[in-house]
Amino acid sequence: MSTPQTASLTQDELKTLVGQAALRYVQAGEVIGVGTGSTVNKFIDALASMKDQIAGAVSSSVASTERLKALGIPVLDSNDVSRLGVYIDGADEIDHRGYMVKGGGAALTREKIVAALADRFVCIADESKLVQTLGQFPLPVEIIPMAARRITEQFAKLGGTATLRMKDGAPLVTDNGQHILDVQGLQISDPLAFETAVSQWPGVVTVGVFAHQRAQVCLLGTAQGVKTMEF
Ligand code: A5P
Repeated sequence: MSTPQTASLTQDELKTLVGQAALRYVQAGEVIGVGTGSTVNKFIDALASMKDQIAGAVSSSVASTERLKALGIPVLDSNDVSRLGVYIDGADEIDHRGYMVKGGGAALTREKIVAALADRFVCIADESKLVQTLGQFPLPVEIIPMAARRITEQFAKLGGTATLRMKDGAPLVTDNGQHILDVQGLQISDPLAFETAVSQWPGVVTVGVFAHQRAQVCLLGTAQGVKTMEF
């Protein structure tokens, strides 16, 4: 599906478009999974118009929880839910197979947990996120702090340069109380194998490659309108 005459829209307006378009994947009566980030914020704002039709949301971050609650959308604990019909989230990169890099907002661990509960992952993104090969965006990896040095050395063997993410002059602390490494210089041509391997390194909490939890649908905001990609 395509909506014409969007060539002059800003990136922010494209995010609004895809956030609104995602509403058609929300089934009345269901609990839905909600991701994190500036694109998802547009979706949450749009979701407010349907708040009386859904059973609630499972959130992937403190920030999204606060936004959902402020709009009167009930937030449920993930342990009170056995499955979700759909999980809606943004991405830092998505390829033509639905594999993604996520974690630019530091919420990757909870995002992967909520995505794993869902039957379908709907990614919402503007077209700057579509890539041929994952790895251009520095790969976020949530780690246990005492493993930072060893994990940095392991990435160096793969050609990657890992940097500890900082905030206000100190290491950023995630919602889970851990740190984030951002790894530059990787070409992730086999995302499934890469995710499987790195997830097993001691001290890795979550690697920001979403291959086992890939998207089944991507709503991409383009100059030609919202493009629906199915994988
Ligand atoms: C949050 O940790 C990320 O995975 C986000 O989903 C991703 O960074 C996309 O965010 P934006 O919609 O703000 O680009």
